[in-house]
Amino acid sequence: MTAIPTETLVTVFGGSGFLGRHVVRALAKDGYRIRVAVRRPELAGHLQPLGRVGQIHAVQANLRYPGSVEAAVRDARVVINLVGILFEGGRQRFEAVHTYGAEAAALAAAAFGARLVHISALGADANAPSLYPRSKAEGERLVLAALPTATILRPSIAFGPEDTFFNRFAAIARISPVLPLVGGGETRFQPVFAGDIASALLAAIKGRATNGSIYELGGPEVLTFRQLMEFTLATIERRRLLLSLPFALASLQASVLQFLPKPPLTPDQVELLKADNIVSDAARREGRTLEDLGIDPVDMRVVVPSYLWRFRKTGQFSRRAA
Ligand SMILES: NC(=O)c1ccc[n+]([C@@H]2O[C@H](COP(=O)([O-])OP(=O)(O)OC[C@H]3O[C@@H](n4cnc5c(N)ncnc54)[C@H](OP(=O)(O)O)[C@@H]3O)[C@@H](O)[C@H]2O)c1
Repeated sequence: MTAIPTETLVTVFGGSGFLGRHVVRALAKDGYRIRVAVRRPELAGHLQPLGRVGQIHAVQANLRYPGSVEAAVRDARVVINLVGILFEGGRQRFEAVHTYGAEAAALAAAAFGARLVHISALGADANAPSLYPRSKAEGERLVLAALPTATILRPSIAFGPEDTFFNRFAAIARISPVLPLVGGGETRFQPVFAGDIASALLAAIKGRATNGSIYELGGPEVLTFRQLMEFTLATIERRRLLLSLPFALASLQASVLQFLPKPPLTPDQVELLKADNIVSDAARREGRTLEDLGIDPVDMRVVVPSYLWRFRKTGQFSRRAA
């Protein structure tokens, strides 16, 4: 289906998050009408300047409450689901959000005849030992069962000015003399620009993706966690000790840290770090990548320094005085 911007209402679940900002910006630029569906619409005010007056509207919805999901999807021609959590807390359980929440969005899209693009994550695997990738894989299965024409996008870690990855480790490096490398830092990632994920989503809405397919989105370069930390430190011009932390020790530490309100590491995340987070050979062979959607992925080296400079001792200024 080719959606026609300006006449087309798009419901974006999770539009107030990191990727949401990029997705809403891309949709607004193309002229779509956007309904941002989140639990706390009052936290979506930052999206307003991305569109014309009245183009972006935030509504209250919770993927855990199917009634609110249906109300948010009513009259939409396209539904995008960006909702995801990194750790569990209260009633925000992986299964409730990634699995049954994703199904609720797909069922609502099917009921109203809307096109659905669902964001999962690289590593989604029904047989994984950790809950996060299992709940994501189960969500994908239920989404396709509810709406077989849905398109699913699985990104690797995303970068962009508000990302949680580079900003978080740069912030740690500012105050800590040591950066831990879980499992020796050998896990491989393929960082992908948030703007490229938004472009992939737009391509899917415009019918350039195969219906019912799962696309794997990675950037131009595969790097180990250690290399990513080295890059972060070089970018913020700081020298820190990179300390290998065996998986067992990291797991032990995480079993305590997981009780913090915003845990920096959970046992589930340690488990997740045991598997590489990169685009598979199968996806490349079968044409299910960013490049197959006509997108030339941006290199993190071009974008990340443009926002990590604030973690340098001298900020945006050079070390040498004039
Ligand atoms: N960022 C990455 O590196 C990355 C990598 C791979 C995959 N992904 C996937 O991409 C998606 C977006 O990630 P992100 O980094 O943009 O996440 P994020 O910044 O944490 O945003 C999550 C969004 O979901 C909303 N939300 C949370 N629980 C909800 C619920 N029960 N019902 C309705 N809305 C809810 C949040 O708003 P409220 O809290 O106000 O409801 C927020 O708008 C997720 O599915 C994530 O798994 C992200």
